[in-house]
Amino acid sequence: MEIINNPQELQTLSLMLRAEGKKVALVPTMGFFHEGHLSLMDAARRQADVVIVSLFVNPTQFGPNEDLDAYPHNLERDAKLAEEHGVDILFTPTRDDMYYEDHSTWVEVPDLAANLCGKSRPVHFRGVATVVTKLFMTAQPHVAVFGEKDWQQLAIIKRMVRDLNIPVDVQGHPIVREESGLALSSRNVYLTEDEKKKAPMIQQGLRQMRDAVDKGKNNAAELKEELAAFYSREIPGSRVDYIEIVHPGSIENLDIIEGPALCAVAVHVGKARLIDNLLIKV
Ligand code: PAJ
Repeated sequence: MEIINNPQELQTLSLMLRAEGKKVALVPTMGFFHEGHLSLMDAARRQADVVIVSLFVNPTQFGPNEDLDAYPHNLERDAKLAEEHGVDILFTPTRDDMYYEDHSTWVEVPDLAANLCGKSRPVHFRGVATVVTKLFMTAQPHVAVFGEKDWQQLAIIKRMVRDLNIPVDVQGHPIVREESGLALSSRNVYLTEDEKKKAPMIQQGLRQMRDAVDKGKNNAAELKEELAAFYSREIPGSRVDYIEIVHPGSIENLDIIEGPALCAVAVHVGKARLIDNLLIKV
């Protein structure tokens, strides 16, 4: 596995590999790998000749009071895991490698960023869309693999490549969970042992909601209220950032569940803000 920091170097190499007829896949990450990240690398490995993983904690997607400086990292461990999963190139630029001091070009998908995480994290998706565009231009992949854990992010990136004619096949992959049901996240390290025991209730509540929908309940306001009550009962001390039922493509709130619906939640548990989602009707 090769480690590259310099964006120009990666771009030149990737363009050369493409010219040789190689299929290139990219997995963008912020590092501190867990099985969720590794599953994306495996999916990339299965279909490409060259797998590039980017590891960059992107400052522009963090708000002023968020955990940019505390974000967990362990490059040595990440490099070992990536290598074990057959990654060919680990791209680890510094902030200065990625952004000029007077960076002033932004990519925004405001319609899809207005709800859910975009509501509580106003600059977040502008930062994500911009850095992913930069990573696409730098790594020149044919395919890029993302997790459905960040459903809204995936929807935004799919819309962005469509709207801007970016020739990258954007693929989504299912959420990888602990046996307890807790969705894997680099931020789970912020949880205490006790909080970790309670956090699986986040998914438990989503499943209960899906069961209720399967039994014929379709009023979103009532379903959301029930889920909020479940969380305050089962995860004492937690604070709900949002519980929404949205259309999986447009990310707009639904009042009545008749067709495709996604329930998405963000819950503060101790120091961690945890997100999860479940398709409740397909
Ligand atoms: P990060 O949080 O490191 O996630 C990198 C990729 O792993 C994303 O596509 C995310 O959806 C996926 N992922 C995280 N947890 C997962 C899980 N439990 N199961 C399956 N996939 C999971 O998302 C980002 O980084 C950044 O916003 C990024 C796209 C790299 C732009 O900076």
